[in-house]
Amino acid sequence: MKKLCVIGAGTMGAGIAAQAANAGVPVLLLDIVRDPADRNAVAAGAIERLKKAEPAAFMSKAAAKLVEAGNIEDDLGRVAECDWVIEAIVEKIELKHALYEKLEAVRKPGTAISSNTSTIPLDRLIEGRSEAFARDFLITHFFNPPRYMRLLEIVAGPKSDPELVARVSDFADRAMGKSVVRAKDTPGFLANRVGTYWLQAAINAAFDLGVSVEDADAIGGKPMGVPKTGIFGLVDLVGIDLMPYLKASLTSTLPADDPYQAIAHDHPLILKMIADGYTGRKGKGGFYRINKEAGKVKE
Ligand code: NAI
Repeated sequence: MKKLCVIGAGTMGAGIAAQAANAGVPVLLLDIVRDPADRNAVAAGAIERLKKAEPAAFMSKAAAKLVEAGNIEDDLGRVAECDWVIEAIVEKIELKHALYEKLEAVRKPGTAISSNTSTIPLDRLIEGRSEAFARDFLITHFFNPPRYMRLLEIVAGPKSDPELVARVSDFADRAMGKSVVRAKDTPGFLANRVGTYWLQAAINAAFDLGVSVEDADAIGGKPMGVPKTGIFGLVDLVGIDLMPYLKASLTSTLPADDPYQAIAHDHPLILKMIADGYTGRKGKGGFYRINKEAGKVKE
């Protein structure tokens, strides 16, 4: 892998780009144009925020210099320079489909294209795409924060080229320090199939039964293997705005009698928090307040 492209400079994309740069590989980080006067501002801003919020995200100044900010309108054609394109845009299938259609027109055959989706099955992601695109496509599901979470779920489809999948897996393992787990193409794969049930159950218990966030995290922290954040701290880290997308994606892909369907719920308080900008660490704070100066959540 000589060059990577990450599309979507949000919570995950910026961290994945940093981790690829830590492996010594140049990375093009693309996002949408929000400000016509500063077309790369979204991706550039994400890199600066990451450096502030997580000073150890880049292992060195040299690694930080390897990430170049760009935008999808001007720079999408540059994916032809890259050996691996990682899509980390919002968890909405129609947006991912629209991006893949554009990517198909400009990519170089043999370039690996992977999605960081949390829940959307691979066969749905490649709907409408060519056989050649399907051969080069896989899911690489990184965990948050990408610098510290060693797990990487890889999902290959029946059409994915085994050699290309092996190339990505090998690079993730050797260069990016990931422990690769191969998962089946099922909704939520392995980790989120369990994890989303557990997060939703905790949210329902807190809001509907009046369990405090602190009590839930005292139990859902160390005793349940989430020592640093607990359950609600984890939702703050993941991004509260992701929760309705995860729910919508899973309820539309899981069978009607799946136990998750009975508890899946866009709680009105969650929707209000999102509408008011309390999306977690990336927003004004979430279940825990954030310390703006340090860019860190107050313990
Ligand atoms: P986010 O909302 O923080 O960032 C998404 C970024 O994509 C934004 O900067 C947005 O401007 C950009 N974007 C939207 N449409 C675009 C397009 N057409 N082209 C280029 N950029 C576009 O999202 P987050 O949380 O980083 O999630 C990204 C993906 O990673 C989703 O599929 C999510 O399910 C998955 N994921 C998220 C995790 C988390 O902890 N937040 C963990 C693992 C996977």
